[in-house]
Amino acid sequence: MRADVYPTVVNIPPAEELAGRVAVVIDVLRATTTICTALANGADTVVPILSPEEAFQVARDNPDRQFLLGGERKAVLIPGFHCGNSPLEYTEARVKGRPILFTTTNGTRAIRRAAGADRVYIASLLNAPAVGRELARLEVDVAICCAGTHDQFSLEDTVCAGAILEYMAGPDRPVETNDMGLVARELFRRYDGRLADLLHLSSHGQNLVRLGMQDDLLFCAQLGTLTILPVFTEGQVVLLE
Ligand code: MLT
Repeated sequence: MRADVYPTVVNIPPAEELAGRVAVVIDVLRATTTICTALANGADTVVPILSPEEAFQVARDNPDRQFLLGGERKAVLIPGFHCGNSPLEYTEARVKGRPILFTTTNGTRAIRRAAGADRVYIASLLNAPAVGRELARLEVDVAICCAGTHDQFSLEDTVCAGAILEYMAGPDRPVETNDMGLVARELFRRYDGRLADLLHLSSHGQNLVRLGMQDDLLFCAQLGTLTILPVFTEGQVVLLE
């Protein structure tokens, strides 16, 4: 098995290089953590959208669907939206049975860009062990696509990529990776058990703390609290049956 890690949205390979591989998209702070949480709490589907204008348009065109509008710009609620990008907002009471139109600065762009792969999983630290084990079961070549922050490498996505590599591999199941993957695996080994510390060191983590969103960091740092496998298919993220 081979699983290469790509550090930012702009490094995600083009569709022709993703064909025949499985992609995993990661945006720990906070888009993919929020998507995983919403689906675990019973949201019907999450539709990644590139702009707030597009989200308003889709909602207007489909009034019967009763979409919930969620996401952020500059990490805060978009005017006119129902929810921001904190996973803590996506409670069962709020999302159960609802379809969500979701737009964020980096995460939703990364998901849309990985769409050329044969299958696209959505991962966060919450479900990284489950995704890693699933990839091992599938025995496929994998592109682990980190969203990063504003096209820059991010610690939180890289450590999650490392966790996935670690859970994919086994004593008689080696996983080959690129240099970025080797760094990711080392980072995870160093911070396993102290993931919240690492998220506090990261630049986007510090930004969220400055905005008073410290609780989000602690939530996003939890490893393996979910076993769900969300996939991006036909324009929406749903749970794999
Ligand atoms: C993003 O997709 O850019 C992030 O999830 C930003 C955020 O933390 O709100």
